[in-house]
Amino acid sequence: MILTWHGHSVVSITTIQGINLIIDPFITHNPVNSLTLTDIDVDYILITHGHNDHVGDAVAISKQCNAPIIAMVELADYLETQGVTTIPMNLGGKLSGDFGTIKFTPALHSSTYTVDNTLIPCGLAAGFIIDDGSTKVYHAGDTALFSDLQLIGPVDIAFLPIGDTYTMGIDDAIKAADLIQAGTVIPIHYNTFDEIKQNPYHFINLLPQNNGFVPDKDRSFNESCIYL
Ligand code: NI
Ligand code: MN
Repeated sequence: MILTWHGHSVVSITTIQGINLIIDPFITHNPVNSLTLTDIDVDYILITHGHNDHVGDAVAISKQCNAPIIAMVELADYLETQGVTTIPMNLGGKLSGDFGTIKFTPALHSSTYTVDNTLIPCGLAAGFIIDDGSTKVYHAGDTALFSDLQLIGPVDIAFLPIGDTYTMGIDDAIKAADLIQAGTVIPIHYNTFDEIKQNPYHFINLLPQNNGFVPDKDRSFNESCIYL
């Protein structure tokens, strides 16, 4: 599996089967994004929840790549009205496909999509456990700390938000990492905006284990790649 973090919550994954996934593709208005929209070539798009910094360019990418969007049913229903194909899911559901499996897990967060100052309700927020048969990855989406995170792991890699204000901050993310029992934890959802400014090295240094991943010094809130 190849995993790349592209800033904010954007993660791309190439599974061991050679299937390309992108999670929360917030590209165009993302100040820390490392991707060029027209270069994106994926088989599936996954969205954790309806907030605009997570739906991002999903509709354009879906049309460009002829790739379905995998999302919670209420968000999927809305996106279908925008002319894309979706695979609707709900919490607890596991989807099997040519990528392995994707399981939708609870996230403690809200979920609306804003169009022209109108809020569209998008159901509940989610996280994902992606298992391609070789590597198990957890992407938390946006969430607060909650004790049921102990039911998620163990996983090889966990992407956890550390930005605070809209999600858990560093102290709670350290507790979350302990509950999840991930081999490697990769901090996300920080330094995109002033409200979520954090030092990722502070987070990594607070982890009890040798984490096996350090954010690149020169690109600390941009692209970081991990090969497994
Ligand atoms: Ni959000
Ligand atoms: Mn967010």
